[in-house]
Amino acid sequence: MFNIILFGPPGSGKGTQSEKLVLKYDLKHLSTGDILRSEIAGQTPLGLEAKNFMDKGQLVPDEVVIGMISSALEKTPQAKGFLFDGFPRTDTQAEALDKLLKLKQTEIGVVLALLVSEEELVQRLLNRGQTSGRVDDNNVDVIRARIVEYHKKTTAVADYYRKFNKVFNVPGEGSVDEIFASLCAKIDEKIQ
Ligand code: AP5
Repeated sequence: MFNIILFGPPGSGKGTQSEKLVLKYDLKHLSTGDILRSEIAGQTPLGLEAKNFMDKGQLVPDEVVIGMISSALEKTPQAKGFLFDGFPRTDTQAEALDKLLKLKQTEIGVVLALLVSEEELVQRLLNRGQTSGRVDDNNVDVIRARIVEYHKKTTAVADYYRKFNKVFNVPGEGSVDEIFASLCAKIDEKIQ
């Protein structure tokens, strides 16, 4: 089993690249953002709680997302590996993920960190906000709040995995295919 974390700020291309990576490497894609949005669409109690945080650009409480990932892992015991997109986003989530994977006798193989300038992130998200219907994309203040939250709470997650020499930076600007090729090159190096 080979497990990957695709890491990076809001708008860095995690979702775009995840779609291609899961096909190429036959991985199960676990995006906490996608799971939360489907809970909101289903108007579940979890979704209603999460919406309050997401609409403001804040992180949803750790216990909520850790519970979601734990049940997603249980639902797919036969997966060849997992691609985590948007999770973990705090030290607490990273430690919980390590424990959950240990129970499955596996671990994170590599953390790929997409590097994109802040102005490019804001531009990408505002562009998407014109058509996506995502409340957190169509307001520049909420976009900036998401980026602040990333620097305050999430960059520490890369430091956590750096201790285990698992983090590789990948330039996240350029064409989608170029970035995909750089990600694949790193993964292939680690798989060998
Ligand atoms: P989430 O859904 O994870 O959103 P995000 O991290 O803010 O990231 P995005 O989906 O906006 O961007 P992305 O990096 O996936 O880029 P994408 O490929 O979409 O989280 C949303 C919210 O949920 C959080 O704010 C939080 O409230 C909550 N949440 C989620 N996980 C949580 C957790 N673990 N703990 C607590 N709370 C959590 O691309 C963005 C745009 O750029 C697209 O339009 C795309 O077409 C375009 N694009 C992609 N690549 C390129 C390129 N190379 N060049 C030009 N444009 C590009």
